[in-house]
Amino acid sequence: MTNPAPLSDLPGYTELEAHATRLSSISIEDFFNTDPTRAERYVSEAAGLRLDYSKQLVDDGSLASLLRLATQANLRDRIKALFRGDHINNTEDRPALHTLLRASDDSGLPDLYQTVLDTRKRMQALSDELRRGTMRGHSGLAITDVVNIGIGGSDLGPRLVTQALTPFHGKIRCHYVANVDPADLRDALAPLRPASTLFIICSKSFRTEETLANGLAARSWMLHSGACDADLAQHFLAVTGNVNAATDFGIPVQNCLPMWNWVGGRYSVWSAVGLSCAIAVGWENFRHFLAGAEAMDQHFHTSDASDNMPLIMSLLELWYSNIIGIGNHAVLPYDHSLRLLPDYLQQLTMESNGKRVDTQGNPLDYATAPVLWGSAGTMGQHSFHQLLHQGQLTCPADFILPLTTHTGASGQHRKLVANCLAQSRALMVGRSLTEANTSLLQRGLDKTSAAQLAPHLVMPGNRPNSLISFDSVNPSTLGALLALYEHRTFCSGQLWQINSFDQWGVELGKEISAVILDRLGNNEIGSMDDSTERLIQIYKYSQQKQ
Ligand code: F6P
Repeated sequence: MTNPAPLSDLPGYTELEAHATRLSSISIEDFFNTDPTRAERYVSEAAGLRLDYSKQLVDDGSLASLLRLATQANLRDRIKALFRGDHINNTEDRPALHTLLRASDDSGLPDLYQTVLDTRKRMQALSDELRRGTMRGHSGLAITDVVNIGIGGSDLGPRLVTQALTPFHGKIRCHYVANVDPADLRDALAPLRPASTLFIICSKSFRTEETLANGLAARSWMLHSGACDADLAQHFLAVTGNVNAATDFGIPVQNCLPMWNWVGGRYSVWSAVGLSCAIAVGWENFRHFLAGAEAMDQHFHTSDASDNMPLIMSLLELWYSNIIGIGNHAVLPYDHSLRLLPDYLQQLTMESNGKRVDTQGNPLDYATAPVLWGSAGTMGQHSFHQLLHQGQLTCPADFILPLTTHTGASGQHRKLVANCLAQSRALMVGRSLTEANTSLLQRGLDKTSAAQLAPHLVMPGNRPNSLISFDSVNPSTLGALLALYEHRTFCSGQLWQINSFDQWGVELGKEISAVILDRLGNNEIGSMDDSTERLIQIYKYSQQKQ
């Protein structure tokens, strides 16, 4: 496949710069005033989700140029290459086939698909057995608690999905341990009984320091409780692409479920990495989760660019990052069960697209992934929304809004909905000086006091945001939502001409950490920078005092 010209040399890019200049004196609200059809046209619907992007700082002209840029960047071919299994992860010479994990047919890849089906069967059998209470620990007690030990992609996906689908949980409790800070494992294990606990050591590489340290500590916990080495097989499973390392660790080969090198960690919740979710919610619900993602895949693969939800979101990301020059993006889920979504999306977008060279290793002269951040509404309204409304920084935002609640408290939930819609509107309309002044006078302030205070109440507005709504957080909509952001990430990576599926940037820190770990435990004199050397000495001194 031929590479397009560098992003900034594409004709659509220059057009976009002209649009940005033209739109700099127009407000989003003006768009609504001049176009009564905007709210119904700037919408995309797919897989149970509805994206309203009418409160974005784009009009028909700039959108047309964005869509032209997508064509000039060969995005349609790139999407086909993704689904076809081309080696789009060029630095590791692999495909990125997370879509095959939720496919309901072999997508032209029968051998790989067979391994997916075999793994699904094993996941189903394990989750059924656990949920029936027929899987027992070494002493004959039924397993009641599952602890997933993993980090990054081997943790965030299953942790988010399990938490988001709490209303669908059965009796088995699933817990997640990721941090090498021993307090994480300690806190998770405190209420658990070893004899009824099953660990899933989830690590594609089975080399990740945090996961191995926690895995070893979990094994000691089990052995200290009176279990012997032979008993461990009833308490440890592994999900890994490195079965040798897992068996060296002491997990029998028949307890290992696969993780394939053609699936990136941050795209892997659909694989056996999602086993803890399947256990928590049951196989039928997990199947709906896969089906929701597949529905989004089909939309992404087949829809016209002008109605393609992930593609539109990606073009907006490019518009703000590269043309308007904004380096951040907020994700604000108005649902308690989705409070981990920003964390999950941080890894997805920033590990995928936080890159500085193109696929051929040439340095880029334009921005790539913005910083993604956010937290659940309405909490953020009482902390950082002040900055969203009046700060000097513009933060494009995605509001995520399930329209119904599983709690049964629809009256209270209505307040949540009202707050979400209010924030979305307030960011766009803001409050003028005149409006601020009038409102202060109405509150009874005298003219002088009102004039003094009014500038503090002004909100410039014109702060762009989208709203993604859906019926409720359920397995299907959750699958669709995560697949939506996966494909958005893919499109942005393709537009930026980077490899979204490697993560070389995480290596150096791991290498230096191994050297420092050695130094913290010995008396060698080192030759690192003065600051690091002093901090090593301070640490050692603190240990002597203990
Ligand atoms: O350090 C980053 C990373 O490699 C992520 O990409 C990955 O999701 C995580 O670590 C965990 O890796 P593993 O599954 O191999 O333990």
